Amino acid sequence: MRRFMTTTAIAVLMGITTGVPAHAQDQGVEVLHWWTSGGEAAALQVLKDGLFNDQAINWEDMPVAGGGGGDAMTVLRARVTAGNPPTAVQMLGFDILDWAQQGTLGNLNDVASAQGWDAVVPTALQQFSKYEGNWIAAPVNVHSTNWLWINKAALDAAGGAEPTNWEEFVALLEAFKAQGITPLAHGGQAWQEATIFDGVVLSLGNDFYKAAFIDLDPAALGGEQMKEAFDRMTTLRTFVDDNFSGRDWNLASAMVINGEAGVQIMGDWAKGEFIKAGKVPGTDFVCMRFPGTQGSVTFNSDQFAMFNVSEERRVSQMAMAAAIMDPAFQSAFNVVKGSAPARTDVSDEAFDACGKKAIADLAAANTAGTLFGSMAQGHAQPAAIKNALYDVVTRHFNGELSSEDAVTELVAAVAAVQ
Ligand code: BGC
Repeated sequence: MRRFMTTTAIAVLMGITTGVPAHAQDQGVEVLHWWTSGGEAAALQVLKDGLFNDQAINWEDMPVAGGGGGDAMTVLRARVTAGNPPTAVQMLGFDILDWAQQGTLGNLNDVASAQGWDAVVPTALQQFSKYEGNWIAAPVNVHSTNWLWINKAALDAAGGAEPTNWEEFVALLEAFKAQGITPLAHGGQAWQEATIFDGVVLSLGNDFYKAAFIDLDPAALGGEQMKEAFDRMTTLRTFVDDNFSGRDWNLASAMVINGEAGVQIMGDWAKGEFIKAGKVPGTDFVCMRFPGTQGSVTFNSDQFAMFNVSEERRVSQMAMAAAIMDPAFQSAFNVVKGSAPARTDVSDEAFDACGKKAIADLAAANTAGTLFGSMAQGHAQPAAIKNALYDVVTRHFNGELSSEDAVTELVAAVAAVQ
């Protein structure tokens, strides 16, 4: 990989605008993130190597596991309250804007203008990377949630056809059951159920997804289609194994990788696990959009929000922001992570078939107006509303609510926190 913008170059850049002396290097970066699985750690290593090997910037690791970042955000709140925020924090969508609104984030405008971020970062991402016109976070990728990850041998044994609609998907799950494997690999955690729900709701129509999760239209949240969405969740629930409760997402991925299960419904960070296990798309596994959602994308973008830190640390912080937005890094990192680059000008050449599809689907959805923020991954609504939705979805999945009651509760839960 070619060298990132050097620390010295950043220091000079910063020196010009902030008076930070150019010798203020090697302060290191303390980074809070939730990339703890095998595939995630491999991707993180690409970033650590880039910073340390090329620029001798020390990395102080602060991992807090849990997809969607719920637990990481709890830890972050304690650190900020104590007046000691980390240098950089992995963050999703509305959480970034929330911290920006509280005045806790630094300003990345100098690096952003030196590297021309405005021209290359998709608008859908910029709405979360900028606050009141100022850059506050550096986007590292674009993930999406409406994917299936299928064991290829199990699919072949079921006839080999990819399901194109809900009925065919259910038939495939039945075929997996007949093979004696767990049809649906799932980890029973609220964020994972919400991640499945993204695809289920989207499969009932773009307008419905938008009305329900982006616009919070009570008619969509409380209508017949939402009941149908919950009924589909009930059906999916019948295809998980007895030990699903509390299972981490990457262990569910491993079930598909090992052939113990047929399919996982998960964001494309799952691909990172398949790749880490040496599996090849099209040979060992199949990636496809949740049946009925090809052409639409429910996205989330991991961004590193940069907190207000000491002037000395700011040099390393800006170097990290610059390294993240380097086109060569965006390619190298996202090939391993399973995501698409957060820049529109990065070639898909180094990516495997699923990565190429992710990049192409993203561009197509953006053009067609069918690119939507993921509810499950904090890109449709702020945390309070997201958590209210999570709560109803997970209680329904665990049999505490009928579909009728879930629909009623959904409307009430959203109204209560709005
Ligand atoms: C993040 C991914 C991460 C996944 C599981 C999501 O919220 O966007 O980068 O791999 O959680 O940890």
